[in-house]
Amino acid sequence: MKKLLISFLIIIFIILSFSWNNQKFSWTDREISLITSMALDQANTNIPDPSNAVSKDTIAIKLGELLFFEDDWGKQNGISCATCHRPENYFTDGLSKGFGIDTLTRNTPSILSLEHSPWLYWDGRRDNLWSQALTPMEAPNEMGLKRGDIVNYVLGHEVYGDLYNKLFKKGVNQNAESINKSFSNIGKAIAAFEITLRFKGSKFDKYAESLKSDLKNTERIFTNDEREGLRLFLSEEVRCTQCHNGPLFSNYDFHNTGLSTLNKEPDFGRAVGLLNYQFNEFNCTGEYSDCSRNECENVMHLNRKERKMAAFKTPSLRNVKQTAPYMHDGRFKNLSEVLEHYRNAPRPEYGVQELKPLDISDKQLLQLEAFLGTLTDTIQIYN
Ligand code: HEC
Ligand code: HEC
Repeated sequence: MKKLLISFLIIIFIILSFSWNNQKFSWTDREISLITSMALDQANTNIPDPSNAVSKDTIAIKLGELLFFEDDWGKQNGISCATCHRPENYFTDGLSKGFGIDTLTRNTPSILSLEHSPWLYWDGRRDNLWSQALTPMEAPNEMGLKRGDIVNYVLGHEVYGDLYNKLFKKGVNQNAESINKSFSNIGKAIAAFEITLRFKGSKFDKYAESLKSDLKNTERIFTNDEREGLRLFLSEEVRCTQCHNGPLFSNYDFHNTGLSTLNKEPDFGRAVGLLNYQFNEFNCTGEYSDCSRNECENVMHLNRKERKMAAFKTPSLRNVKQTAPYMHDGRFKNLSEVLEHYRNAPRPEYGVQELKPLDISDKQLLQLEAFLGTLTDTIQIYN
């Protein structure tokens, strides 16, 4: 009899604690649909780049990979794309500003899953990945190479030349147009490699996946702080998802978040980026592109986009805990400084602040930070 009573009490306890759990951690329909929409499995991994005919070609991927890590270029200056976009640092460099031949003016962003980003750079001054890849090679403070030398080096190289000739038409003569053509092909190979570099999935994705099926085990995945941080992140009051939304945690649009000036040096971001973009010969609509004007998504957007003053591209928040320092100029050395900025939403010196100050406690800031830590990929990205 006593045994029976004890078993009965245990069963009652289990039922009660289960329903208590359910109630405590329940999400609203709005929250569930947001969480589900942000899971990595919602990301389309087959976005075409019509401006790059070799973007899915395996030989292009191989050549692009070799060139991404090439640090000789016949000059032995030791700088490759991977000097700044280091695989072991989630393709960033841990510095506040990039450093090649000299110090750059901006922070090195990660380059994962960039097929989702219609514009490249913090100010969006390029509209396709291959034209972006050509820019640092020639920049005097980055790799400091000359266009003709790059082309001659690749085409004359035993391994690269062979892969190049398999992919593209043989031979170059020294007129500028064919040098430009070969130069653009080199960028297209690097871009083909870059789109193989993708986010792999994090604790957050495991949580989102579990939420669809198994409520009880779901709540073992996150700590209380991580879950409360997620709730704040999604909330109407805190509104992080206004810009950091979708499976990549970015709308890839440009926003003024009050960061135009650091140490009296103004950076006008998108306002100058859009001007700069219009003068680039390797744009999607230019003669080195592999598609017609109509197929260039960004140009279709262009007329609708304003030259927003001191606005910068919303970065993805995946792996963010691992990629300090933060913001386009690397001004914040850790996430708590970033979140303090969001709490204050200071008035910018240029343009119009899009953030509103947040009425949240220190504890809530820590919860937001704990949540951001769940966005780190759980497996090695590249090895
Ligand atoms: C000296 C350091 C350095 C080198 C070398 C370098 N980068 Fe970068 N990269 C940066 C910085 C800094 C930015 C951001 C600059 C800006 O927005 O104005 C950037 C931006 C990018 C972006 C845009 C990312 C985005 O979210 O829009 C891509 C893609 C990229 N680099 C790829 C490359 C490739 C490919 C190479 C080699 C051909 C390369 N980088 C060489 C530092 C470097
Ligand atoms: C109005 C759009 C917008 C909102 C709302 C917003 N962000 Fe951002 N976020 C941005 C932009 C744009 C940047 C880059 C700004 C820059 O570098 O100048 C950024 C940068 C960041 C960074 C730094 C990432 C990096 O790699 O440097 C973090 C972390 C971040 N946001 C988290 C949040 C959190 C948490 C919230 C909610 C409290 C939030 N953001 C709300 C647009 C927004």
